[in-house]
Amino acid sequence: MARTSNDIPHPVLKWAGGKRQLLPQLTKFVPERYGTYIEPFVGGGALFFHLHPERAILIDNNPELMNVYAVIKNNVRDLIASLAKHKNEITYYYTMRNVDRRQENFSKWSDIERASRTIYLNRVCFNGLYRVNKKGEFNVPFGTYTDPVICDDDNLLAVSQALQQATLVHDTFDKCLTYAKADDLVYMDPPYVPLSTTASFTSYTRDCFDQAAQQKLFDVFRELDKRGCKVMLSNSHCDFILDLYKKYRVETIMAIRAINCVGAKRGKIKEVLVLNDFD
Ligand SMILES: C[S@@+](CC[C@H](N)C(=O)[O-])C[C@H]1O[C@@H](n2cnc3c(N)ncnc32)[C@H](O)[C@@H]1O
Repeated sequence: MARTSNDIPHPVLKWAGGKRQLLPQLTKFVPERYGTYIEPFVGGGALFFHLHPERAILIDNNPELMNVYAVIKNNVRDLIASLAKHKNEITYYYTMRNVDRRQENFSKWSDIERASRTIYLNRVCFNGLYRVNKKGEFNVPFGTYTDPVICDDDNLLAVSQALQQATLVHDTFDKCLTYAKADDLVYMDPPYVPLSTTASFTSYTRDCFDQAAQQKLFDVFRELDKRGCKVMLSNSHCDFILDLYKKYRVETIMAIRAINCVGAKRGKIKEVLVLNDFD
């Protein structure tokens, strides 16, 4: 029976650009057989958790995100105990949020405490965003959820199981070249090219993902293609991307944009899925 996006395991964190809503469209292009599954911009990991592959390499340059996965993989019971202590209460929220304003104290927190804080903030903050300012400080305001699920034990345990087969790498996307070999499936879901100057959302970490980074990503795509990997890449449907990847197969995907600086402009929008035609 086909899996739905609410099956477990599913993403622990709500993540800007998360692919849960697009799974029915994306999975149509996933090859039946592949070696290792590699995701160089794993974020919330919607496709990874859906596919639940036998072997995986998961990469992201967000340190708090990769710490969350490492703790779920290695210390899930302690994490569940820690999550149970949090409160959906505004003063408590800002106390938790502001601990990264004093790095000298925050750096003494254990990996479990940090992962617990990241999941807590993600569950109760406004819109479930992960966003930091230029100093790397989490800056999303308190949300208004009446009863948010801060600790979903069943899913955390299932995610922990799924991660046992995964190598977790806190690094930049080009690190995938260290691992990728012929027949591996590489799914790349980078920060998208902004469609307008006001629509840019590149605040997952302190660094922006600019045009030079998109160009470098194209070079990595080409190298993976040369090696015989099966490569899939999501991005904006815009002239820059269509021109850059013109030699490859480009499919159109329809998405409902969940995060947009102009809230009223939510709606269906075209995206691309670039494939190196591995069939
Ligand atoms: C669009 S999100 C991925 C969403 C993911 N597919 C999901 O379903 O949730 C892009 C991710 O790329 C990460 N990222 C940004 N720049 C990066 C870089 N240079 N190297 C590796 N990861 C990066 C961000 O931290 C973010 O998690």
